[in-house]
Amino acid sequence: MSIKTEEELEGMRKINEIVAQVLKEMKAYTQIGMSTLEIDEFGGKLLAEHGAHSAPQRDYDFPGFTCISVNNEACHGIPKSSRILHQGDLVNIDVSAELNGYYGDNGSSFILGEDTQNLQPLVDASLDILHLAIRKIKPGVRIAEVGGIIEKAAKRRGFAVIKNICGHGIGRRLHEEPREIPCYKDHYNHDRFRRNSVVAVETFISTRAKFVHEADDGWTLMTKDKSFVAQHEHTLIVRDGQAEILTLANGF
Ligand code: CO
Ligand code: CO
Repeated sequence: MSIKTEEELEGMRKINEIVAQVLKEMKAYTQIGMSTLEIDEFGGKLLAEHGAHSAPQRDYDFPGFTCISVNNEACHGIPKSSRILHQGDLVNIDVSAELNGYYGDNGSSFILGEDTQNLQPLVDASLDILHLAIRKIKPGVRIAEVGGIIEKAAKRRGFAVIKNICGHGIGRRLHEEPREIPCYKDHYNHDRFRRNSVVAVETFISTRAKFVHEADDGWTLMTKDKSFVAQHEHTLIVRDGQAEILTLANGF
């Protein structure tokens, strides 16, 4: 959406602060030995306390409140009682929700306990590159250009980017125009970032794979070759100076 009124600005600030706060609390709650379902139920309870509704549930009938993806799962992981988290797992929690018709989206990857799989450099790359991308986003800048910056930075650190999952516009729905904010230079994408528009920017950085595939559950998107994927995501308003990040409550 494009922010045109004070009311829209307040609505977007509020729900994005909530998703960021919920994500922060879910990360702090996560412990070795817990199932991803337990963590999701905690997140669902927090959303309800704020009067917010899970966006994937509302817009897509997703079987969970939040998406929790582990190791080679990149996104849309279904919370399951059978999915027990272990020391060193790469965990991604992505919280998106709606309040009063406005949507927010915030995601983050982290390592549970000790880094037994040596994945901290991947997690750091995903976060640092998100910051780099956000600094480049200004009105009139091509979306493809920012994608190119993400891809180049990932390669420089010895990683790859996932090409078939993207950031997106957001506002009155979870996914709006622009439909695709990819992590690579898509020469066919001629869209530009527009002043006052709201976008969810996401890095999908992988140890090797460039594409993800749908799992048998019909939701989870994962790498076939078992390579790991880290993601960080902020929702922001495109401004003339620096973008206004709406999901800072979970840190930057
Ligand atoms: Co998200
Ligand atoms: Co998103």
